[in-house]
Formats: sequence, structure tokens, C-alpha cells
Amino acid sequence: MMKLDSRVGEADGPTLGQEINLMDCYPKANRPITERGQKSTAEHIALAAQFGKDYFDGSRLTGYGGYHYHPRFWTDTVRRFRHHYDLADDARILDVGCAKGFMLHDFGLLMPKADLVGLDISEYALAHAKPEVADNLLLGNARSLPFEDKSFDLVISINTIHNLEPDECEMALAEIARVSKQHAFVMVDAWHNDEEKQRMTDWNLQARTVQHVDDWKSMFARCGYTGDYWWFIAT
Ligand SMILES: C[S@@+](CC[C@H](N)C(=O)[O-])C[C@H]1O[C@@H](n2cnc3c(N)ncnc32)[C@H](O)[C@@H]1O
Repeated sequence: MMKLDSRVGEADGPTLGQEINLMDCYPKANRPITERGQKSTAEHIALAAQFGKDYFDGSRLTGYGGYHYHPRFWTDTVRRFRHHYDLADDARILDVGCAKGFMLHDFGLLMPKADLVGLDISEYALAHAKPEVADNLLLGNARSLPFEDKSFDLVISINTIHNLEPDECEMALAEIARVSKQHAFVMVDAWHNDEEKQRMTDWNLQARTVQHVDDWKSMFARCGYTGDYWWFIAT
């Protein structure tokens, strides 16, 4: 496995962004990893991959087991993003894989003048979006973003890119780099060691690209993704 420092020098290609946990305010979940590993079947996985009702509001064996809004999820995290990236009041922010728009909703409470846009592949999620932001959300695929170059002050994508096949992940990461003026942050399924890899294997349903953190960094460098990043580790 190729080892990469978290920053690659200019001479080696584009500089990688920062490996930084901007999700450290997000509440910790209690995940039934062993149970899912033992009980999930090919049928559960196929249902999860549809990103419909079963994934969001079905059982824990096919996804979230209920994806509901609560301010404790995003209130502190959107503050963290705003502060870290020093966002202007009227910043333009894109959430790739916005689901029901919960994070954007909380950005809207914090920054009422911000221009907020979400994109998601799930018709179900958009149809059940938080009404206050429903008009800001678009149906689409992360691999091709329908936006101008450098048109967002910040692009965020949480736990979404890994749902694409590896070649499409690279397309999506390049798209995020293209539409962001400067700042981007992605969080993806990853592992550092065999123990984390086993837990991820038990927990994962629909993700198509789940890899060692160094392989993610190599992918970022290869496709010119220069934004920041952090890892979803199954715990
Ligand atoms: C684990 S959920 C994360 C939702 C939200 N970002 C969050 O953190 O609560 C993954 C999301 O990615 C969306 N998704 C999956 N594949 C996608 C694709 N190719 N393009 C855009 N969205 C996608 C799903 O519909 C789902 O809303």
C-alpha cells in the first residue's frame, strides 16, 4: 500500500488538503456493528443501495433505522465549519449528498444570508426534506455537478463519495474541486488497520469504495482533490 504524507509537495503534484476532524462535535452513535455483520443479507444490501425509504426510515439492517432532524446533530458542527473556514455571512455553500437537508437547515439558522445548495441522488430523501430548505435541494449525481467552476465558497460532502465505484469517486472528487473556490471538506469510509477494516466490513451495506486512509490520499492526489478530509471509521 502506497504511503503518502498528509501533505504532498508542489513538485509531486497538487498539494493535498488538510487531514482534519471537523466532525468532532457531531454526536457519537451507538452502532450495532456485530448484529448487522451477522444478520445483514444480500437483500438488505440491495435495499440500502436504492437510497429509498428502507435506507433512511427502515430498519437498522437496511440503513439508518430512522433519519430524523434534531438540532443536536448539526448545530455545533456547522459552527465549526463556519469558524474553521472563516465564512462570510453570505457565503455560498454546497452539500453533496445532502439527504433531507438537515445540515443545510442548520447552516441557514446560523447564517440566514448564506446561499445554500444541496444535491442528492435520493428522490425519497428530497421528497422528505426539511421543508425550510426543500427548495434549495437538487436531484443529481455527485459524479457530475451541475454548477459553474469555482462557484461555491465551501463544498462539503459527508459520508457520500464512498457510495460510488472507485472511478466515479475520482470523478466526484474532481467535480468538488472544480466547483469550489477554495474550500472543500469530505468525510469517507476508511480504515487504518485490520481491526477497523473488519468492523467496517461488518457495518458497511451500500458503500462501493471503502479503503485504507493512504489509498484515499493517493486517490485525492490522483484526481486533483485539494480540499480537506476526514474518515468515517466504524466504531
Ligand atoms: C450516509 S448518507 C449521508 C447523508 C448526509 N450527508 C449526512 O451526513 O447525514 C449518504 C447520502 O449520499 C447520497 N448518495 C448516494 N450516492 C450518491 C450519488 N452518487 N450522488 C449524490 N448523492 C448520493 C444518499 O442518497 C444519501 O443521502
